[in-house]
Amino acid sequence: PPDITLSIVVLGASGDLAKKKTFPALFALYKQGFLPRATQIIGYARTALTAEALHERLRQYLKGEEEEIARFLKLCFYVQGEYVPDAPGYRELARHVEEWEAQPASPAGRLFYLALPPYVYPEVCQGLSRECSDLGPSRNAASWVRAIVEKPFGNDLESSEALCEQLGALFPENQLYRIDHYLGKELSQNLLVMRWANPIFGAWWNRHYVNNVQISFKEDFGTQGRGGYFDSYGIIRDVIQNHLTQLLALIAMECPVSNHPDDIRDEKCKVLRCIAPLNLQDVVLGQYVAGNDQPGYLEDPTVPEGSRAPTYAACRLAINNERWAGVPFVLRAGKALNERSVVVRMQLHENPVPLFGPHGTHQNMRNEFVMRLQPGEAIYAKMVVKKPGLEMDTEMSELDLSYGERYADVKIPDAYERLILDCIRGDQQHFVRRDELRAAWSIFTPVLHAIDRGEVQPEPYEYGSRGPPSQDAFLAAAGYKRTARYTWKPSKSS
Ligand code: BG6
Repeated sequence: PPDITLSIVVLGASGDLAKKKTFPALFALYKQGFLPRATQIIGYARTALTAEALHERLRQYLKGEEEEIARFLKLCFYVQGEYVPDAPGYRELARHVEEWEAQPASPAGRLFYLALPPYVYPEVCQGLSRECSDLGPSRNAASWVRAIVEKPFGNDLESSEALCEQLGALFPENQLYRIDHYLGKELSQNLLVMRWANPIFGAWWNRHYVNNVQISFKEDFGTQGRGGYFDSYGIIRDVIQNHLTQLLALIAMECPVSNHPDDIRDEKCKVLRCIAPLNLQDVVLGQYVAGNDQPGYLEDPTVPEGSRAPTYAACRLAINNERWAGVPFVLRAGKALNERSVVVRMQLHENPVPLFGPHGTHQNMRNEFVMRLQPGEAIYAKMVVKKPGLEMDTEMSELDLSYGERYADVKIPDAYERLILDCIRGDQQHFVRRDELRAAWSIFTPVLHAIDRGEVQPEPYEYGSRGPPSQDAFLAAAGYKRTARYTWKPSKSS
């Protein structure tokens, strides 16, 4: 770990995100020795709590040996305060931080983690910027102030830009770390390495070979009491505009000039800007109804009556550039479906001349390159092989890299662990830059506005089903073909 005197301030320390994600991730970093020796963690929230009471709340979310947990909790303090910009709490926070940094010789780091709803970001950032971000004249150049913020970043292009303006006036872009936790997932990160370290991919990763790309996110549970939050956003804002669009950018981008974070983000932004804004004809929307003994979306008591918020959406995007023109990219996400998985599937064109099997047998057996982000990370390529045996039969098989088998002893870190560590190291590669965010909102804003105006009635689908019935025709129109008689089996250990 770097030799700095580090203060990590978790604002919203008594909330769900802090308890379930932020503190456990900090604990994991601590356990693995990734936090600098001089680290203190300060929880800040409105609730009147003692440090001991905070520790008690956190304990159940920290997994490890009792002694280790106790040592970690000794680093965690608590300051109570309001979020309004002139709250005295910020001064109190500054006092704690300054005391910790009393040895001006070593560089100081201040990491503000805003585990808060975004509507308070502007006022909290004002308070922090006024009271807590002045490192003092004696600090050396290696000292820093950084802030981590979480989605939703606005509701549409305009509100996101307004939020960026407000925060940008207080913290410059190089101090702002916008988390999209999908960028912290192992396979998202591997995309970059795989694509640009293996010429085998470069050869076919384009419109000449790829017929269509499917990026799909499925959850087998509904909103379950989170409906109040979810309803004002809907599935497109919740996961498609951010998580799936980030995956798309990693899949479709050109080779960056270098692996410098800004060179990578330049390319991601560039490809997003090649995507035309969506229209209603480019989407299928669904909302789950009761099924398999589970209640429908509208029966969730936290959901407003008669809501038209989509809990499922399939969006067909066109990337208008030399590499991808004419290749449909389908981003699909749904709650309350038949399984939980996040999968990227690239289908290649069919072999023009089916040499094996009776004429046409393998017409619809396409090569597919699949990246399964979760559960059970795997990368595999589906292909036709000779069926072992005396006959010259063929069958679909795969080249398979299942992490559970190949990396059986490796613990894959949680996305938040990695991203917080990147922030401590000052690496913005896996954080969303302002122009990327703008490009992503530009794609979805027109359709979101049409949905907000109530112009579309989402199609019902049953809880636990594959999604709205019209999705199959929609996917087929986007070129997608399901391979008959073949299912990939996850490795036993994944
Ligand atoms: C969040 C969404 O950003 O991502 C949730 O708000 C969703 O609705 C979650 O469940 C999925 O994250 P993961 O890491 O479990 O795939």
